[in-house]
Amino acid sequence: MLRRRNVLVLSVTILILFFFTTNYLRSILPSNNSVEYTSLSIEGKIQIEFKNLPKDYKIPSLIEHNTFYAFLKNIKNEKFEISGENITNLWKEANSWVTKTQIFNMSSPNIGKVAYALKNAKILKADLDTRGTQLKFIFTLDGNQQVIFKPQWYEKERIIEGPVYAGKDRYGSEIVGFYLSAILNKPLCPISVERTISLKQDVLPVATKRLLETTFMSKNRTCIYGQCFFCKKEDPICSDKNSYLNGAVIFNIKGHLVSNRSPWQRTYKKGKRAVWQEFPEKYCKYVYHHI
Ligand SMILES: *[C@@H]1O[C@H](CO)[C@@H](O)[C@H](O)[C@H]1NC(C)=O
Ligand SMILES: *[C@@H]1O[C@H](CO)[C@@H](O)[C@H](O)[C@H]1NC(C)=O
Ligand SMILES: *[C@@H]1O[C@H](CO)[C@@H](O)[C@H](O)[C@H]1NC(C)=O
Repeated sequence: MLRRRNVLVLSVTILILFFFTTNYLRSILPSNNSVEYTSLSIEGKIQIEFKNLPKDYKIPSLIEHNTFYAFLKNIKNEKFEISGENITNLWKEANSWVTKTQIFNMSSPNIGKVAYALKNAKILKADLDTRGTQLKFIFTLDGNQQVIFKPQWYEKERIIEGPVYAGKDRYGSEIVGFYLSAILNKPLCPISVERTISLKQDVLPVATKRLLETTFMSKNRTCIYGQCFFCKKEDPICSDKNSYLNGAVIFNIKGHLVSNRSPWQRTYKKGKRAVWQEFPEKYCKYVYHHI
């Protein structure tokens, strides 16, 4: 009887000790699932995830290079009169920035003007962009510069669960990609800005026949379903009741670019991993020497 009581007391003591030590450890050890982590801003989470990157992907001094500070100063929206030679020369300059290692010039004081022009230049022609799998438009802006327009399908803050390719295009990724490429000192994403357009005033009067053919009114909204792999009439993008549609305007470089597959492209099959995911430590060196 006595021995059974001793065992019972011992078990309860161990249980209590276990309870307290676990709680203590949980409170002092950093954990990715902690409440603190979930309440972090996106930027804060990125900073934490950077610390967990494999050695080969470490970036020496994130956001600390001088070019980035020059870029931050240059990218400030710079108002100017979008007309005549001013705008043609600006587009000409922006197209001349393309080299093997960059598609925009972080050091150019004119990049703020380019962003301003992408946001404000008059749309001279509006057409569908049938490349790729999702609905996109191709606009010709004042000064004869083509841009891609990706419409906004979801609220900016909406998180879509599922595989990485679940849901439709997130227009904000274009803009984030542009800034992230500057932060990482790899200016390889096209200049992108957010812009709200009026379908009635800016687009329909200059739209091509094939764009108009996929346009209709529904509940006082202008809707367009376009022409692409996933485009269908039952799933159009619609303006608000005042005919406004928000999205990303993306600079479309003039001239021929060679298309190279990204060595870090993901796979689109559930459960199938890409080569870079199988050998993350060795792959970086492999790419460095072979591609
Ligand atoms: C071009 O820009 C300059 C100064 O930025 C301005 O004085 C001039 O009026 C502009 N020209 C045209 C044709 O818009
Ligand atoms: C980028 O802009 C800077 C500053 O205007 C200039 O000195 C440099 O030549 C430009 N580089 C390219 C590739 O256009
Ligand atoms: C559409 O707009 C008209 C005029 O503003 C209004 O009378 C009508 O109720 C609206 N219809 C819908 C479905 O909102």
